[in-house]
Amino acid sequence: MALRTALQRLGQLPHLRLESLRFSSSSFRASDLTIERNKSTKPKPDPSSLVFGEHFSDHMLTIYWSESKGWDVPQIKPFGNLSLHPASSVLHYSTELFEGMKAFRGVDNHIRLFRPTLNIQRMLRSAKRSCLPLFDQDEMLECIRKLVEVDQEWVPYNTDASLYIRPTFIGTQPSLGLSKARHAMLFVIVSPVGPYFSTGGFTPVSLLADPRFIRSWRGGVGAFKLGGNYGPTIALQDEAKNQNCQQVLWLYGDEEEITEAGTMNLFMYWINKRGEKELVTPPLDGMILPGVTRQSLLDLAREWGEFKVSERTVSMRELLETLASGRILEVFGAGTACVVCPVGSLLYKGKTYKIPTPKNGPAMRFHKELTDIQYGRKKSNWTQVVI
Ligand SMILES: Cc1ncc(COP(=O)(O)O)c(C=O)c1O
Repeated sequence: MALRTALQRLGQLPHLRLESLRFSSSSFRASDLTIERNKSTKPKPDPSSLVFGEHFSDHMLTIYWSESKGWDVPQIKPFGNLSLHPASSVLHYSTELFEGMKAFRGVDNHIRLFRPTLNIQRMLRSAKRSCLPLFDQDEMLECIRKLVEVDQEWVPYNTDASLYIRPTFIGTQPSLGLSKARHAMLFVIVSPVGPYFSTGGFTPVSLLADPRFIRSWRGGVGAFKLGGNYGPTIALQDEAKNQNCQQVLWLYGDEEEITEAGTMNLFMYWINKRGEKELVTPPLDGMILPGVTRQSLLDLAREWGEFKVSERTVSMRELLETLASGRILEVFGAGTACVVCPVGSLLYKGKTYKIPTPKNGPAMRFHKELTDIQYGRKKSNWTQVVI
């Protein structure tokens, strides 16, 4: 019972105290990194024809861990297949977590990472929740920086495209026993990706809201970036496609609380009942992934100070009532893939609801502000220069 309560609490605390996650004495070190260059480099794909996640660079970063020996030295080596024991815990019990971040080639030709420590801190929280070993965030960031430096020619020369970075951490315990992994492997692969909006425009998406589809729940692990949260959503994403919608709007509970959309955090910009302009996003209550983009939009909006900014629960009923009274100004998703993505319509219980998509609303302004920072058009301490 005590264990269950403790686990439930973990699920509800997306911001587990990070001081306890800085284990510099038991971390790998970037200064130990070894680099084996790939002798046969692949041709780079044309940035305008990139399909997400289908092309990989020439190198990868690998770091092994075992309970008996601790962290091994980090290695950058030629990109290649993994060799895993068939009983590895990742293959049976989804002892897996990942991150998604990007490197951008700026207008000044410098390559930048966007708020990478937020990704690494989220990765550490996911590792703690998965009983995988911790590491020092600065050492990890330096290893990633080095990988991007080695594969720098894979960062597209195009201010619509970027290099997607996928840190991944798996339990490789060669045993079918359901217990804490005593062997683990951390690896990072990178993949050039093109513009999210292939049409070049800022194209609104349609969402399917069906209360039977649950992505995460209170006391669960929705706030952590675990592979196990994603595989089961594919069938529901497919169902959305069958109903001519592009993504799922994830609802939760009897009140049909709005949580997220696809793999994006959701924002609603409206005039509230008191007549104020308000930007609302669901709170980090353990069901929502604490997105880096979400945090950045909240930070920007608070800095602008032009409208009320709220992190609070919104039910489907409240959303539809606000829409019916004409007070919704804009609804949009936010995530690393698209930065900001306007929502144009909602299919709920057989009825399609149109949502306004103004040309010059906050969604467009947020998108411009963040991409200006990412591509070095605007100076900001949110970016870290790789090279
Ligand atoms: C479920 C979910 N929500 C939100 C996000 C957006 O997070 P971020 O802004 O860190 O990419 C992601 C993407 O990582 C996600 O998988």
